[in-house]
Amino acid sequence: MDTQVDDHIRVSGSPSEPPVPRLADHVDVYEKDIEDVLLTHDQIEQAVADLGRQITRDYSGRDLLLVGVLKGAFVMMADLSRHIGLPMEFDFMAVSSYGAATQTSGVVRILKDLDHEIHGRDVLLVEDIVDSGLTLSYLLKNLRTRKPASLEVCALMQKTGVQQVPLDIKYRAFEIPPVFVVGYGLDYGERFRNLPFVGTLRPEVYRDAVS
Ligand code: IMP
Ligand code: MG
Repeated sequence: MDTQVDDHIRVSGSPSEPPVPRLADHVDVYEKDIEDVLLTHDQIEQAVADLGRQITRDYSGRDLLLVGVLKGAFVMMADLSRHIGLPMEFDFMAVSSYGAATQTSGVVRILKDLDHEIHGRDVLLVEDIVDSGLTLSYLLKNLRTRKPASLEVCALMQKTGVQQVPLDIKYRAFEIPPVFVVGYGLDYGERFRNLPFVGTLRPEVYRDAVS
């Protein structure tokens, strides 16, 4: 494996710090599109393991159903669930709030509903990122009408200063600035979900997409 460092990808907010190691071979193809790395793979792994430990403690002896919000949460869900040392079940909802753009429309559509009844169950909703909060607020309202025993949220990231509705997010790994990010499940036009870190895109990527 190539261990050479790449000097054009930097960790955000620390231009003087050494560059992060180049991407893994399988995602080298995206290297030219990434501007900054906001969260390294190591940071994410540690934070997700911590969340898993907290959830294991909090849900011991309960009837845990992990509900992932597709598509973005699938990577987080896979990693998080393997740090939860409890019997549990999985379900997924698919919603659409953005289309291909980078600004929320405020309109949430349910593309796929849950397979399970959640009445009386301990539901933990797993989200990749909370931006305006409109998606989550809609989902929570919708799920509450089904009368779960409990309903909490676990989000990898929350953007600061852009939330339009009050939300109680019990488990949150990172607060990030209100910039558009990709990687670790998050996409731009369905690409970049398989990056092992979270980063920002170079402006050319957006320009090329509209032209
Ligand atoms: P919200 O409704 O504005 O909170 O947006 C939530 C959803 O929009 C997330 O579940 C993501 O799928 C998507 N989203 C929000 N911010 C970003 C981003 O920076 N990159 C990629 N997707 C995002
Ligand atoms: Mg998305």
